[in-house]
Amino acid sequence: MIFKKSGLLVLIFSVIAFVGAHAQQEDAAVVERRIEGLLEQMTLAEKAGQLTQFSDVGDVTGPASADASVQKKRELVKSGLVGSMLNVVGTENVRALQKIAVEESRLGIPAVFAFDVIHGHKTMFPIPLAEAASWDLDLIEQSARVAAVEASAQGLNWTFAPMVDISRDPRWGRVMEGAGEDPFLGAEIAIARVRGFQGDDLAAEDTIAATLKHFAAYGFAESGKDYNAADIGTVTLFNVVAPPFKAAIERAGALTVMNSFNTLNGIPATGDAYLQRDVLKGDWEFEGVVISDWGSGIEMIDHGFAADARDAARLAMNAGSDVDMESHVYAEYLPSLVESGEVALGDVDDAVRRVLRMKFKLGLFDDPYRYLDAARENASLMTPEHRVMARQMAEASIVLLKNEGGALPLGKGERIALIGALAADKDTPLGNWRGRAEAGSAISVKEAFAAAGVDFSYVEGAPVENGEASFPTEVQVNLTDRSGFDAAVAAARAADKVVLVLGEDAYQSGEGRSRANIGLPGVQDDLLKAVYAANPNVALVVMSGRPLVLTWADAHVPAIVQAWHLGHESGPAITDMLLGKVNPSGKLPMTFPRSEGQIPIYYNYLNTGRPGPRPEVFWSHYTDEENAPLYPFGHGLSYTAFEYGRLRVRDVDGGVEVSVRVQNSGGREGREVVQLYIRDRVASISRPVRELKGFEKISLKPGQRKTVRFKLTEEQLGFYDGRGAFRLEPGAYDVFVGGSSAAGLTASFELKSGR
Ligand code: GLC
Repeated sequence: MIFKKSGLLVLIFSVIAFVGAHAQQEDAAVVERRIEGLLEQMTLAEKAGQLTQFSDVGDVTGPASADASVQKKRELVKSGLVGSMLNVVGTENVRALQKIAVEESRLGIPAVFAFDVIHGHKTMFPIPLAEAASWDLDLIEQSARVAAVEASAQGLNWTFAPMVDISRDPRWGRVMEGAGEDPFLGAEIAIARVRGFQGDDLAAEDTIAATLKHFAAYGFAESGKDYNAADIGTVTLFNVVAPPFKAAIERAGALTVMNSFNTLNGIPATGDAYLQRDVLKGDWEFEGVVISDWGSGIEMIDHGFAADARDAARLAMNAGSDVDMESHVYAEYLPSLVESGEVALGDVDDAVRRVLRMKFKLGLFDDPYRYLDAARENASLMTPEHRVMARQMAEASIVLLKNEGGALPLGKGERIALIGALAADKDTPLGNWRGRAEAGSAISVKEAFAAAGVDFSYVEGAPVENGEASFPTEVQVNLTDRSGFDAAVAAARAADKVVLVLGEDAYQSGEGRSRANIGLPGVQDDLLKAVYAANPNVALVVMSGRPLVLTWADAHVPAIVQAWHLGHESGPAITDMLLGKVNPSGKLPMTFPRSEGQIPIYYNYLNTGRPGPRPEVFWSHYTDEENAPLYPFGHGLSYTAFEYGRLRVRDVDGGVEVSVRVQNSGGREGREVVQLYIRDRVASISRPVRELKGFEKISLKPGQRKTVRFKLTEEQLGFYDGRGAFRLEPGAYDVFVGGSSAAGLTASFELKSGR
């Protein structure tokens, strides 16, 4: 009887699944028919319009267009000849433009409204690099979900995030926007973010289309200088740069991809047919929309790749860049390029189909005003629940880099000198890409100290910068004003302990913010040394959008905390961590160098033919610097301790199982990121000395043990060769398990067959 019942249930569910799938196919067929119907009616100018995206004239996030094109832009929008807009925010503003597109244009095709929702929209979460330091995929997905709820409530249906550029160069200001140096961690985080943004139904009013950016290798800008050329081999392209893009398309269904400003091996990405047509749309079968970056089409003239604007339009379209953001070249030149045969009508139609499909998926054809509910807008922004989630994310993102002699947590009743401009700064924690957050609205460390009843005195010590910083303007770093040093030294002397909050202003990292010297900016290094001389019991809290060179601090200061730019809840999260109410659990997603001369520096390097150390000079090293970083990828301490043992490797169906027992050997509950690395000892290309292939963030009470199991599949054991072909080769592998990429617990196994 039970069998009959379960058999009947299986039958019922199968029928439901079949009907569901069939209905989806039906829906898709109907959509395709509607798209073809529109295409048949559209003029070439209207098709070019669908492939054109303009920014609202007010809030620009790139080089502002000249006046004349602003007027032209307005006319095109007015005529409904603009497929999408960016930087138009708010149900009222969006409705005004959507009404024109839908009710005044000839075909009434709705527009899509995009915005850079990078780490929150109204409620600021930690910058993406900080979130990556949490290694907590659930929290990261939740963070993107909150951002989508708030952004969609303001009429937006498309975000230009997640940025998934892998980078090994902290001089590059945009490392703050990504997930660090590792392709495996980067891929998992890209998937979590896309799922958070897109949810299960893109037509739902609280989900938005995601954008994987910037395709490709933008993070390999030479010398860490933004927009600079990137020259990498195809082994690095396919094994380091590509995985986050490919994984988020295949496993999270990312709807759009943005190409990048840089040349890759001499070809501007926007004009690179190999990248966009052969790899992305060809091998990976990407069916979504490819959008250019801001003006990256017209910038191919400066690259010396396009002769003029018309040539730029031709090259971009022929290379597979579907939508032109702020180059003003598709609307202007595509019709004549098709008429002259320099661009195939089929390519333009394919691009338009992709854009129209996106609009159907977003539900905009069913209801162009779906995202425009003023009541929802007011109810959804900066809610208490969102603040709680931002706090959880901030707490999980803090990395304890050093903690000697129990310097932290702060002892009860200790008299604290809180020093540093950033300790009172309510704006910097909001980070560089701060969406619609109100300037100066974060809770500062100083405010949180007061709220927590800490016995402290506050002294600024020295301003980080002179004057106001902003998104498009250079920060004027304070290089001379030391007038607050004496007061800081006096406060340090009078205190039991010093909490010194130093680092970067929000606008010292992010786009256009490369730094050749990545120490503490301005006079802060001198302030650190002056305060330390007065009282060596210093807990240094570093706020930054990138790894900084902290070598002097590491050699002197007992405790160092990496506190990034943590968003609205920065102050309380840092304070609760310093007081011991929160046990830090973050791990570095990017290597911290000892000096700029080591850069690029990363954990998954190749061994070279002359590893060391050796007694003579003929090995790969510096004569004046160590090879090792200051803090390695995956590093992060806790207020408790974790011990690893019983590392076991065994063959299982479909791969190899690695198990390890982890114990909390300390006195308080804590969370640990258990990390699994492999080394493929011999292969047809040289493989890195270590590669992250698994991680799990676990919570353990004092004395508690847990066995963590990882499965290494062919996908994780294989690699891509220089032609982008996947290879799995038999041979010996080492595994390393522990709390950082320097994990010492190791075992090995033999892979008997490949493919
Ligand atoms: C910027 C950035 C890109 C952003 C776009 C729109 O220049 O490179 O990441 O999404 O323009 O703001």
